[in-house]
Amino acid sequence: MRIAVPAEIDQDETRVAATPETVGKLTKLGASVVVARGAGMRSGIPDQDYVAAGATVAEPETVMQDADVILKVRRPQLAELAACPAGALMLAIMDPYGQEAALAAIASAGLTSFAMELMPRITRAQSMDVLSSQANLAGYRAIIDAAASYGRVLPMMMTAAGTIPAARIFVMGAGVAGLQAIATARRLGAIVTATDVRPAAKEQIASLGAKFVAVEDDEFRQAESAAGYAKPMSAEYQAKQAALVVGHIAKQDIVVTTALIPGRPAPRLVTAAMVASMRPGSVIVDLAVERGGNVEGSEAGRDVETTNGVRILGYANTAGRVAASASALYARNLLSFVETMIDKTTNTISPNWDDELVRATLLTRDGQVVHPNFKIAT
Ligand code: NAI
Repeated sequence: MRIAVPAEIDQDETRVAATPETVGKLTKLGASVVVARGAGMRSGIPDQDYVAAGATVAEPETVMQDADVILKVRRPQLAELAACPAGALMLAIMDPYGQEAALAAIASAGLTSFAMELMPRITRAQSMDVLSSQANLAGYRAIIDAAASYGRVLPMMMTAAGTIPAARIFVMGAGVAGLQAIATARRLGAIVTATDVRPAAKEQIASLGAKFVAVEDDEFRQAESAAGYAKPMSAEYQAKQAALVVGHIAKQDIVVTTALIPGRPAPRLVTAAMVASMRPGSVIVDLAVERGGNVEGSEAGRDVETTNGVRILGYANTAGRVAASASALYARNLLSFVETMIDKTTNTISPNWDDELVRATLLTRDGQVVHPNFKIAT
């Protein structure tokens, strides 16, 4: 059972799909693990640490040779597919929505691929939940980034030279990322308010010491899907929501937006007029920027300064900005899933195709895109 860990070729990707800890565990489970030279460097892991944990190090061009399993962070690009052995299992964050051509290429390459972000959010799969592990870190880092770009301090400070008031932070979207942003902002002493369209978020926001701000009408009371996700809200609700937050945003120093709806573009929550209502020096962090953005004017990968001096941070891959922590958690997510596929008697990889975790995440197999949500119409 040969497990390969290639280096990520995307320049924006700082994470790696295995750590010495997970390599050690995979080795104990009977796997031989091969890691590409330098794969862990941007997560602070030198090659020799992988070797000490039991891996061998190979050149990036040959690392995937004869692999039974390939562990990656991002969906493989065309340039990488040529080196992937047909029949290998590949686990990655596949970002499959709207990527028909890329998925077809993965299928044609003969890979049996799994999209980790489609893991069901059930108790058994909690340790494999990459959306949670990475969103939690992104929420933390959003506040750190905002604090670093903000020209004032976050906590109230009473000094001999006078008192500095606490910063006001508004978090829009209180899922995993938003709740961690709230907790981090509170730890740093800010006055925090937050909003969400799911009623369950209200109590969670309050329990972290933040104030809940939202339109609580009938639509709000039914806004959570059976899977626990937000539903797209009606134009009428969005107008009411905008009217409520417009006055609130004008009084904030920092706004962090995290609102997402699976498989759809991010909802637009902050208009250019709302941005213009904030005072110069205010900071907005748009964590949804890679899904189209919650904030008008945010740009993926850019720190935009508006004409009235408000900065809109649109960092791509925010979890990757704390790469060592993000890799540690992501690698454990992968290890937990791979473990369920190892047949300990034969020491081989043999997924149970009827397992609900396998069925929910399996994207391509036997040359076809097999996931019902992404099957290519013929
Ligand atoms: P997400 O990343 O899909 O969305 C982020 C947040 O944006 C959500 O809280 C959503 O309600 C909110 N949102 C969407 N549209 C909005 C709008 N128009 N205005 C304001 N907010 C809006 O969500 P995430 O973080 O993946 O969490 C989704 C749910 O899954 C939550 O209920 C969370 O508690 C639950 N969850 C369950 C787990 C488990 O049972 N194992 C693990 C992790 C999360």
